[in-house]
Amino acid sequence: MATNGVHHPAIIESADTDKLPPAPADPQNIKAFHDLDLNTLSPSTQAVHADDPLNILDDVAPAIHVSTTFRYDNDPDRLFPTHERDASTHDSSKHVYSRHTTHSTTRLEAILSVLLKNPSLTYSSGLAAFNALITFLNPKRVFITAGYHGCHGVLKLHERLSGLKVLPLDGNPEEIQKGDLVHLETPINPTGLAFNIQHYADIAHSKGAYLSVDATFGPPPLQDPFKHGADVVMHSGTKYFGGHSDLLCGVLAVKEKAWIPQMVTDRMFLGSVMGGLEGWLGVRSLRTLELRVTRQSESARRIVDALDGALTGHTVGTGLSQSDADIIRSVLKKVYHASLQTQDYKTWLKKQMPNGYGPVFSITMKTPDLARRLPSKLNLFHHATSLGGVESLIEWRTMTDETVDKDLLRISIGIEDDKDLLDDLIQAFKELAADTSESK
Ligand SMILES: Cc1ncc(COP(=O)(O)O)c(C=O)c1O
Repeated sequence: MATNGVHHPAIIESADTDKLPPAPADPQNIKAFHDLDLNTLSPSTQAVHADDPLNILDDVAPAIHVSTTFRYDNDPDRLFPTHERDASTHDSSKHVYSRHTTHSTTRLEAILSVLLKNPSLTYSSGLAAFNALITFLNPKRVFITAGYHGCHGVLKLHERLSGLKVLPLDGNPEEIQKGDLVHLETPINPTGLAFNIQHYADIAHSKGAYLSVDATFGPPPLQDPFKHGADVVMHSGTKYFGGHSDLLCGVLAVKEKAWIPQMVTDRMFLGSVMGGLEGWLGVRSLRTLELRVTRQSESARRIVDALDGALTGHTVGTGLSQSDADIIRSVLKKVYHASLQTQDYKTWLKKQMPNGYGPVFSITMKTPDLARRLPSKLNLFHHATSLGGVESLIEWRTMTDETVDKDLLRISIGIEDDKDLLDDLIQAFKELAADTSESK
């Protein structure tokens, strides 16, 4: 391909061979460009190599592409107007305009499609992805639990626009009808408690409805909602996929491959695409997804074990001294996390989350005032909303979510050493306890 008289050898090689890069978001196509079957590789390998076929340059690290528009072919015989293209003339390796596809977001989708085991599309944010899902499925009713308040905000918008009805998921399942959407968030925001995906999939499917699962709090390799009946898996990629608190991203992965072309068209008109730079950051981040998430998950479990152990008297193996446990008990009321759902462990939870629980949990303090003051006593946790980054965060959740009690704090464990994090929490609890006894 000549591009304004300048020749790019790597591009010529790619364009002139039969080995054109694959259609976006199609793992079946991607497989064909590797000698290896990507699906047989482990997620850590997939995250580094699933986009290899889209690496048309000789750079090892992906190049940063920020162009919003891309030159058409210089050969007039290879100019096919979009509306006249068919399978033989559509070349998905060529980008046209960044509201449709870009190099970086296509690479990101190539990796996500393999990791999530189904075709995946990216959006400008998690809420943009949820909005795109509701727009595409256009259900008459959505059945939903509490969970992230922003998704309820999106549904309110559709209630206003289309008369969509929003109903509680644990209401009367008899009301669910064909074409409705059951939307489950698991683990749920803000507590990190898990729900049985298969249970809700069975209910939805018995009525001809779809099940979508917001799996933001349980990214790969922690769970695969498709294995338990999900039709759509949604992520706020802003969280673990981004992993560094520096990009907004939303993801929809769908079991029904035939939905993808319409969803790509919808996205183009909704205009809710990631920028090229964010797409690039996303690819950079996915390389370390498994390393980060498994460490964050294991650290969260250890910290939860210690805090809950102090409350329940099970401190053996937690490293807590008796005085640490006494301090924790003096200010902390309760700990919420899927790892504490021992009653569900054998029946479905171990099967659903075989590789560990989410790195987010919540705590309630003995008074709302203790909850308000805890973040400012900590050294290693930023007091900020969001989750999933390498930095540990704590949020007095009422700051951004009016639906939760004022004694609740949400904690997102980062990649720091878990012992350092626990020590930081204990010293903060100590200070709070000292402040309380001084003011008496
Ligand atoms: C569970 C869940 N879903 C969706 C979202 C929305 O994602 P975003 O902020 O990327 O729009 C969030 C954000 O916190 C979330 O926690």
